[in-house]
Amino acid sequence: MTFKHDVLVVGAGLSGLRTAIELAEDHDVAILSKVYPLRSHSVAAQGGINASLGEDDSWESHAFDTIKGADYLADQDIAEILAKEAPRTVIENEQWGTAFSRTDEGEIAQRPFGGAMYPRTCYAADRTGHNLLHTTFEQSLRLGIQRYDEFFVTSLVSDEKGIHGVTALELSTGEVHGFASKAVVLATGGFGRVYGKSTNALINTGDGCSLALRAGVALKDMEFVQFHPTTLWGTNILITEGARGEGGHLLNKEGERFMSVYAPEQMELAPRDIVARAIRTEINQGRGIEGEYVHLDLTHLGKEKIMSRLPGIRDIAMYFAGVDPIETPIPVQPGQHYSMGGIDCNEKGETSLPGLYSVGETSCMSVHGANRLGGNSLLETLVFGRLVGQAVAEYVNDAALSTVQRVEDGTFSERERLQKMILNERGESVAEVREELSNTMDELVGVFREEKELRAALDAIKGLQKRYDNVAVGDSDERFNFALVRALELGSMLDLAQVITLGALKRTESRGAHWRVDYPERNDDEFLKHTIVTRENEELELKYSEVTLGKFEVKKRSY
Ligand code: FUM
Repeated sequence: MTFKHDVLVVGAGLSGLRTAIELAEDHDVAILSKVYPLRSHSVAAQGGINASLGEDDSWESHAFDTIKGADYLADQDIAEILAKEAPRTVIENEQWGTAFSRTDEGEIAQRPFGGAMYPRTCYAADRTGHNLLHTTFEQSLRLGIQRYDEFFVTSLVSDEKGIHGVTALELSTGEVHGFASKAVVLATGGFGRVYGKSTNALINTGDGCSLALRAGVALKDMEFVQFHPTTLWGTNILITEGARGEGGHLLNKEGERFMSVYAPEQMELAPRDIVARAIRTEINQGRGIEGEYVHLDLTHLGKEKIMSRLPGIRDIAMYFAGVDPIETPIPVQPGQHYSMGGIDCNEKGETSLPGLYSVGETSCMSVHGANRLGGNSLLETLVFGRLVGQAVAEYVNDAALSTVQRVEDGTFSERERLQKMILNERGESVAEVREELSNTMDELVGVFREEKELRAALDAIKGLQKRYDNVAVGDSDERFNFALVRALELGSMLDLAQVITLGALKRTESRGAHWRVDYPERNDDEFLKHTIVTRENEELELKYSEVTLGKFEVKKRSY
């Protein structure tokens, strides 16, 4: 059957929910999500959300830190919006009921975070995303927003005139449905699972970016992949930057606080790209422990502080690494964490395809440039969720619902495509192709990159794409066919791996999170530019676009 709504929001994390909330009073909006909203990855965000609430702080200072942290690749007008909107955003969520941690005076507590010259990260212990997601979800319940939970969007229905809707696989029945709409907002989160060592939930497979790419919409700055410095050795679960914000030290196997070499002023609170490279260098040069990790030492913080500010980190360290951080340092190593790149769109979320919008980590409004500061991601979801919601409301007021026939045709061909995948019994194993992909990305497109390895990665990805064309799902059940879901997700991840790697190969400079050992300098003359990649007839096309500069002069970064 074909459903009809004015607006479809794909993804029920913070950015999707906040967009839908903005639309819900006056518009017919529905949310489709491949998981129940409270299982979206926003729930896993730990350390906090930035806002210049302090008396001596200012939005200008927040914007400057963001732009410098971004290695000047952020569009300055967009970073200004983020910083200006931050205080009202945090207060709105406080009023919705988010249980922020408090100072002794009862104000919202703020902790220092990497790359910030002021302690401006508001937090709810070390479960900030959990708290924000629950209060935002409650607001969506209050407004009675229509949801299609466990509906996996498999294609966009569009033509040169714009978007007509989507097709979605209903996981509980195996039925493929059509959804006709005037506008679609892609809010599907990041694509960290392209890598093996990642803090991301297993659901973060980049489906939204891949849908856009296949519909002819550009992806931007995809080579800028953030590696979080401190992920738990073994599982790569996030160990929040808040642990360093609360005073944690990084130690190599000699027990040295090695950050004094790499960022003498900011030390452990330098931006993530710098700390991740420092840890990787210590390990590569033989000063890691067991050749694989360094220590995050919290023991000097004392039991009370750890129990009140970092209780989740203590649990994670105890359950997954067998160490109690009150007594023993935590073994950590860098792991993929965030995607600065995404669907090319402006601050309203508008893409080049009329009626198609994007918001949150799926999008690239160019607010984080080459490196995102911790605490700016939760902020981005809520600030731009609201603003994109407003822009979509204006758009749909004037737009007409296109013919349902177009969506029905799309649904018919999508049913055939999925059926063909399911019926292929003797093809390639999804698990094997996926493992080879994540190994390739971990080993060849990681913290340090170079031409030979990037070329080898591209060849490997192309080989895996060929194998994927003959992939076997291995399960023909109609209900909850997760083998089919995994196969579809793998297709998205292969698309994105190719775009990331191509961008990394062509950007022959080092900037932010993208570090080329063969081009270790930043090259503003040639590369103070956004990478724009489109796909036509299975071929990628790469070009560059200008960065919007502003009042903050482009300078060498030091911390
Ligand atoms: O370290 C963290 O808590 C992560 C925060 C972020 O990515 O913004």
